[in-house]
Amino acid sequence: MKTPLVVGNWKMHGSCAEARTLTGCIRQGTGALRTVEVALAPPFTALSTVATILKRGNLRLAAQNVHWEEAGAFTGEISPKMLRDLGCRYVIVGHSERRHLFHEDNRTIAKKIAALLRTELGPILCVGETLKERDKGTTVRVISRQVLSALKGLPKNGIGKITFAYEPVWAIGTGRNANPDQITHVHSRIREILKGLLGKAKATNCRILYGGSARPENAGELAGTPEVDGLLVGGASLRAEGFLKIIREFSRSWRGQSLEE
Ligand code: 13P
Repeated sequence: MKTPLVVGNWKMHGSCAEARTLTGCIRQGTGALRTVEVALAPPFTALSTVATILKRGNLRLAAQNVHWEEAGAFTGEISPKMLRDLGCRYVIVGHSERRHLFHEDNRTIAKKIAALLRTELGPILCVGETLKERDKGTTVRVISRQVLSALKGLPKNGIGKITFAYEPVWAIGTGRNANPDQITHVHSRIREILKGLLGKAKATNCRILYGGSARPENAGELAGTPEVDGLLVGGASLRAEGFLKIIREFSRSWRGQSLEE
């Protein structure tokens, strides 16, 4: 049975001191929680600080980006091996801010995923359409292309280790989340692709998260949305109280549910 995953993506926010305080509060608030897996993705500068606090708890450490090479002359980049060395479990790849602001394309994203799998780190692959693409009716086509190109050439057991995150670009940081029907529609399409590649049982085990204006107020609804296996939370993960409420909503909604088909 898969456990839901809630990831806090802090983006480019916070000093080490702020990261220490926020992590401490989240750690305390999640205590012995076992029903939800929680991961924190601080900026690179705070990874080590957060790692120290998470060492003995249940919370996981995640990074927001990675380079695909193991080492070399790549000024400003961080390798998968370096992230593993710090204790990272997950790495976010293909976030829309990376795609749109830093021009990362599907080929680059595929290389990063392959490198993470080689290093035994769990990629969290973000996909999502722009508002223009949604309005044109091309959402499913865009998502399918993003998923398929990122998975190209990967072995089945590698694909099974990837967490998927549907983050519609128009919902990120806008306060306007996708509605349950829109989310289920896209998540089901991703699941169909995975079934085609991995077979039904393995595809069902893959987690597909939703991200985009997830907040304490809508977390209950999102947790109850079919095909949502967790959340990727941006702004609302920067306040411990709100983030903990999101986690609790997820825990409440999922407790006792059979997740097997
Ligand atoms: P917000 O939750 O701030 O909309 O950001 C979502 C996101 O980009 C998480 O990766």
